Amino acid sequence: MTGTREIPMELIAEIQRLKTARNAVILAHNYQRPEVQDIADFVGDSLELSIKASKLTDIDVIEFCSVDFMGETAKLLAPTKTVLLPDPQAGCPMADMVTPEGLRALKAQYPGVPVVCYVNTSAAVKAECDITCTSANAVKVVNSLPGDTVIFAPDQCLGAWVQRHTEKKLILWEGYCPTHNRILPEHIAAQRAAHPGAEVMIHPECPMELLEMAEHVVSTGGMVRVAKESPATAFIVATEEGMLHRLRKENPDKQFFHIAATAICPNMKKTTLEKVLWSLQDLQTPVSIPDAVADRARQAIERMIALS
Ligand code: 13P
Ligand code: SF4
Repeated sequence: MTGTREIPMELIAEIQRLKTARNAVILAHNYQRPEVQDIADFVGDSLELSIKASKLTDIDVIEFCSVDFMGETAKLLAPTKTVLLPDPQAGCPMADMVTPEGLRALKAQYPGVPVVCYVNTSAAVKAECDITCTSANAVKVVNSLPGDTVIFAPDQCLGAWVQRHTEKKLILWEGYCPTHNRILPEHIAAQRAAHPGAEVMIHPECPMELLEMAEHVVSTGGMVRVAKESPATAFIVATEEGMLHRLRKENPDKQFFHIAATAICPNMKKTTLEKVLWSLQDLQTPVSIPDAVADRARQAIERMIALS
């Protein structure tokens, strides 16, 4: 889907020129196309990108190459900056599985129970929660809350993983990531047979049955660290395929095998270099969040960042 193609140097040069003219910084998620990662100033997981956005001072524009909820998070943390999405249609089906009304109805069933929202949610949903989390800090966030019960939305797979690592009782929303749910146990078995000795690193958005088969259950940022720090020299990477580019680039002496061709997020792949260029040319599409939700959503994210 993202196969190799020649990238016109003029396109890259024009993006760089416009980036300077607009006083912009380009942030990209680890799942972005290789050529988009390569022109970014910073590539990271969703927690690292949020922290980065919150610390940017001397710039006017954040060009956010990912999906919409991460652009919203950046806007909440950097409200005075213009945050641009190269393709506003790049959404997240898991984030769409929970609405503010739905979450309010669940909260009404459990009065007083604190609510954790995965960052893969809209700003309007974040406004309904006490604190957000990412896959890098979910256990820490849940354990930081008072009481013995916590509502966790929307990823039931990440929630089930957190449940294994906390004494608290989690009430799980039944959302899931369609991309990570297309990774199957037989994919792991086949890759292990093809690459004996390779360690499996897997994202906690995958079902528990698969997490139990892996050596490392980590966020995308965690995968970068495991690849560097582990003495292993070969890895089976059970997450979205964009991850492989960074792992290979930063560890040229190690081998990385993608779990399966089914693990491609169509939304993460919507951002192309051309769209980055057009976005910087026209200052489109700016993220805008209604005041009615922005303050509450920001508080939930800032509570998470304070724990980092
Ligand atoms: P992380 O980069 O936080 O591991 O999240 C993965 C993801 O699915 C983003 O959509
Ligand atoms: Fe959403 Fe899954 Fe795509 Fe991440 S990989 S943006 S969770 S659909």
